[in-house]
Amino acid sequence: MSTGAWAAAHEQSITDPTAFWGAAAEAIEWATPPTTVLDDSNPPFYRWFRGGRLNTCFNALDRHVRDGRGDQAALVHDSPVTGTAATFTYRELLDRVATFAGALASLGVEKGDRVVVYMPMVPEAVVAMLACARLGAVHSVVFGGFAPAELAARIEDARPVAVVSASCGIETTRVIEYKPMLDAALDRSSHKPESVIVLQRPQARAAVGERDTEWEELDWDELVSDAEPADCVDVEATDPLYVLYTSGTTGRPKGIVRDNGGHAVALRWSMENVYDIGPGDTFFTASDVGWVVGHSYIVYAPLLTGATTVLYEGKPVGTPDAGAFWRVCAQYGAKAMFTAPTAYRAIKRDDPTGSLLAGYDLSRLETVFLAGERLDPDTYAWATSTLGVPVVDHWWQTETGWPIAANLRGLEPMPIKPGSPSVPVPGYDVRVLDDRGEEVPRGTEGAIAIRLPLPPGTLPTLWEDDQRYVDGYLSVYEGYYLTGDGGSVDDDGYLYVMGRTDDVLNVAGHRLSTGSIEAALAGHPDVAECAVIGVADELKGQVPRGLVVLKGGVDGAAQGERIRAELVQRVRDEVGAVASLRRVDVVAALPKTRSGKILRKTMREIADGTVPVVPGTIEDASVLDALTPVLRPSP
Ligand code: COA
Ligand code: AMP
Repeated sequence: MSTGAWAAAHEQSITDPTAFWGAAAEAIEWATPPTTVLDDSNPPFYRWFRGGRLNTCFNALDRHVRDGRGDQAALVHDSPVTGTAATFTYRELLDRVATFAGALASLGVEKGDRVVVYMPMVPEAVVAMLACARLGAVHSVVFGGFAPAELAARIEDARPVAVVSASCGIETTRVIEYKPMLDAALDRSSHKPESVIVLQRPQARAAVGERDTEWEELDWDELVSDAEPADCVDVEATDPLYVLYTSGTTGRPKGIVRDNGGHAVALRWSMENVYDIGPGDTFFTASDVGWVVGHSYIVYAPLLTGATTVLYEGKPVGTPDAGAFWRVCAQYGAKAMFTAPTAYRAIKRDDPTGSLLAGYDLSRLETVFLAGERLDPDTYAWATSTLGVPVVDHWWQTETGWPIAANLRGLEPMPIKPGSPSVPVPGYDVRVLDDRGEEVPRGTEGAIAIRLPLPPGTLPTLWEDDQRYVDGYLSVYEGYYLTGDGGSVDDDGYLYVMGRTDDVLNVAGHRLSTGSIEAALAGHPDVAECAVIGVADELKGQVPRGLVVLKGGVDGAAQGERIRAELVQRVRDEVGAVASLRRVDVVAALPKTRSGKILRKTMREIADGTVPVVPGTIEDASVLDALTPVLRPSP
């Protein structure tokens, strides 16, 4: 147990947040310094750095160029799927961002306007995000693996003035055309943006229509020849920088709001204290700009720090092999890398002995960070022994935007315990509660909650929906934010996060909603009722399984095969291939409580081979008995 720097910092962050975060805020350059560090005048809504004005893009680019980092690499794009690599210095990235911001401004984008970014892992995605930040516009990046219905739901809610997209992405060797998906989403959405900017990639050029403007890859001036580079627009610390939609249990995604001031302060603080990355270091985060990990640790945190970030357009395996991450780390001299455990499981599956490490100089790699799902002890042990560096599990959520629990490698490296993401990060007052909201004894499992206020950088609310924020997160235990994860704390204060207590799915580190997959299944004309559960999977941690009851008159025995195939395809078309739904079973009935709630958790427990908890309120226990052979894992 630490009695050192971590304990002191954590204690101060909780008892005197003004002093703690006021000091951290000095690392950010403010146009007007904040007058109030923590505004707690309107609980349960808390705001950080009230009165402060800043520009996030200025802090990520301009100030580094001004201070002498203009020729340092800011962004490396490494793309095995296109066979290309490019490095942009801080000066080059600033030029491109300022010019693209000018182009957006010429299309009418202003402070506060939303811009949806639907792009693969190309530098233009980073440029688009930073250009929005420069104008004080609010970007909303949608993961490229989402299909039209998911994209449409986000466009509908965010009501963007413009959409920035690309003609295609590349999945290992398969070219995925984005423009038809975007057009389908825009057809479905009642909100129509004024402009659509399409990056034309050579692998598949998109057909353009009246609303569309082309952005030529390799010819940055094409789109912007008439545009004047735009200056930074200062915004309030509490103004939104972005909205990132994430999956809840229902099909309607939640718009997580990130403000400018708290975000900049928290991410900057985390780089040195959690990740031990400072100015000039190289950080390689293998995720996607469409997820929160990509927002925070591919784009904003490394650039706010004056570090070099690597944008990798490839997979851990298959592009071309399981040595890809080691090549990238060696080639760019990464001091730390960050990805999801599932990526390491994929590498371990393809190269169990780590033979592909040979020939790569990883002497500069000091730490591997993993998050997005629980790091199972086997994967932890394999990664540690194969790489010979500390492998650090850390726990966080889209909502928080940066880690809730971690082994803080910069502040105070602590012993690592397999299966635990270590200790609460300063700013987070983490408690494990029982049903009545009482703290459970150490070692006992319960609901993980965080005492309000949440630290800077975390969500202040949901996009234009304060009530949903309160109902979804703050109303179960008064004065606490409910994380939706269950777990326990041991005698040393180490946290163990065991998984979601709700029906949110975590598939290969991707967060998906049972609700949206169920909505896709329910839309099939032959389906009367359905349920989706997440079951354990060796590679992806969890995968969804569908159970459907067919309408009277449909002969399941005769038509089951056709319907099952159609349902799998529907989910690919509506939610995206990323949902990884491969198995749907036609069943006679679904188990429910007397009030009609489907017993997903009980079904999940049967499918995972654990002892199922059957609520006393079950309507008809024979339904569950009939389902058990279908659900049970095959021996
Ligand atoms: N655009 C279009 N399609 C996409 C996509 C994208 N951006 N991302 C994934 N898909 C598709 C895949 O091609 C695949 O399609 P298929 O069913 O036709 O093969 C499907 O969605 C499932 O993708 P994925 O879950 O990535 O599985 P995979 O088998 O292709 O790869 C891993 C497995 C483990 C290698 C991969 O999941 C991975 O790299 N995970 C890392 C997770 C991560 O970065 N998480 C972010 C949080 S840190
Ligand atoms: P996302 O919002 O996509 O980042 O997903 C957040 C969820 O992923 C959390 O609520 C957890 O269920 C899970 N998660 C993320 N990191 C970890 C971790 N280190 N250990 C256990 N679960 C994790």
